[in-house]
Amino acid sequence: MPGMRPENETVSDTAQTRVATVTAPNDLESFWLPFTPNRSFKRSPRLIVRAKDMHYYSADNRALLDGTAGLWCTNAGHNRDPIVAAIKRAAEQLDYSPAFQFSHPVAFELAGRVAALAPGDLNRVFFCNSGSEAVDTALKIALAYHNVRGEGSRTRLIGRERGYHGVGFGGISVGGIVNNRKFFGSLLAGVDHLPATYSREHQAFTKGEPQWGAHFADELERLVALHDASTIAAVIVEPMAGSTGVLPPPQGYLERLRAICDRHGILLIFDEVITGFGRLGYAFAAERYGVVPDLITFAKGVTSGAVPMGGVIARDSIYEAFMRGPEHVIELFHGYTYSAHPLACAAGLATLDLYRDEKLFTRAKALEPRFADAAMTLRGLPGVLDIRTVGLAVGIDLASRAGAPGLRAYQVMERAFQEEGVMVRAAGENIALSPPLIVSETQIDEIFDKVGRAIKAVG
Ligand SMILES: Cc1ncc(COP(=O)(O)O)c(C=O)c1O
Repeated sequence: MPGMRPENETVSDTAQTRVATVTAPNDLESFWLPFTPNRSFKRSPRLIVRAKDMHYYSADNRALLDGTAGLWCTNAGHNRDPIVAAIKRAAEQLDYSPAFQFSHPVAFELAGRVAALAPGDLNRVFFCNSGSEAVDTALKIALAYHNVRGEGSRTRLIGRERGYHGVGFGGISVGGIVNNRKFFGSLLAGVDHLPATYSREHQAFTKGEPQWGAHFADELERLVALHDASTIAAVIVEPMAGSTGVLPPPQGYLERLRAICDRHGILLIFDEVITGFGRLGYAFAAERYGVVPDLITFAKGVTSGAVPMGGVIARDSIYEAFMRGPEHVIELFHGYTYSAHPLACAAGLATLDLYRDEKLFTRAKALEPRFADAAMTLRGLPGVLDIRTVGLAVGIDLASRAGAPGLRAYQVMERAFQEEGVMVRAAGENIALSPPLIVSETQIDEIFDKVGRAIKAVG
């Protein structure tokens, strides 16, 4: 039983003996889980021990259909042989090469492959290790870009209510999810927020981008009037707000943001940590919406979750603005020990090969109508207030139980895991689903059948 010490273990057991003999954890106390109610988890742990393709396997060896691509990241499916083999080969050949002042060939190859997937002249790729680092990197590049061009007064960053940009201080400052902000002091100075683009009254049960809501972009003009464009460096938005519960952009919204940014010399950053690498049926959401931002952040799907990696793609003009001054002097004082780590780069190349060879982005696009129809079968179930779909993603809003916000979604997630054999993501009073792009039509139906049963069961 997880959480209990084996009866035959004596206190004189050395740590080493334990490592060798214990396969399931006997002490759940030391690990402080991220973004998890720890006490509830440790009372009834949800432990996963292996995975293959569309399935996870629990510690008690139950198959669980993966409805969430892990955490929006395993887009190519789990433990795919070519990715595993590439990681093994890389580990044998080059464990690590210094990220500053030195590099290794695979980093350049991967940067070229990522740039080739990005639209327009988004050709320059800066690597880091997570979405949070990607966001902080993009915000810093934006500030420094204005600085090196002699517009150092542009220091203000604009995010959006309900936005999620990871957990660094930059990311939570421009982010708009109150619980991620309110415990952490005064955050970055000089940040403002656009309104969220959601109105249940006007948009409930919409498949794809809602028709209503493009006017929310015009709020950027109001912020420009308030602060003056000369103080604003960048606007950052998720093209589709994922973590807050899947809010697709209203039709025309992103185009309007782009036009206003252009008018005022403000950089537009698309945070594509979730939407990158096929989630919306394209390499990047920028392509789906025909809007070219100045910077794109990515992470998750670049390695299909197999090795941590993130990055920022910048337009040529941004990169070139830094390439001045004496050539022996660093142009951007920023980077991470593990930027472009060899294992991550190898996993990234193998992942991009799989996306290409199995045409997974177009597969996601082709499956979108089927996925949306299946999602809408949950309409009318107890407590279901709204369902929003886009690409292979859906957010299902549930009604809160009196005095216990978030409880119903948490119960659905637990029930789905323990009884129905499907992994779903609960965030607030929302269930989000975003399966690997290899999901079959039958598995789509299976996911929604199981989720429907869990919703009904918790009542
Ligand atoms: C849009 C967006 N940005 C940033 C992040 C942070 O990524 P990470 O958890 O890898 O730091 C996430 C994570 O879900 C995200 O969805």
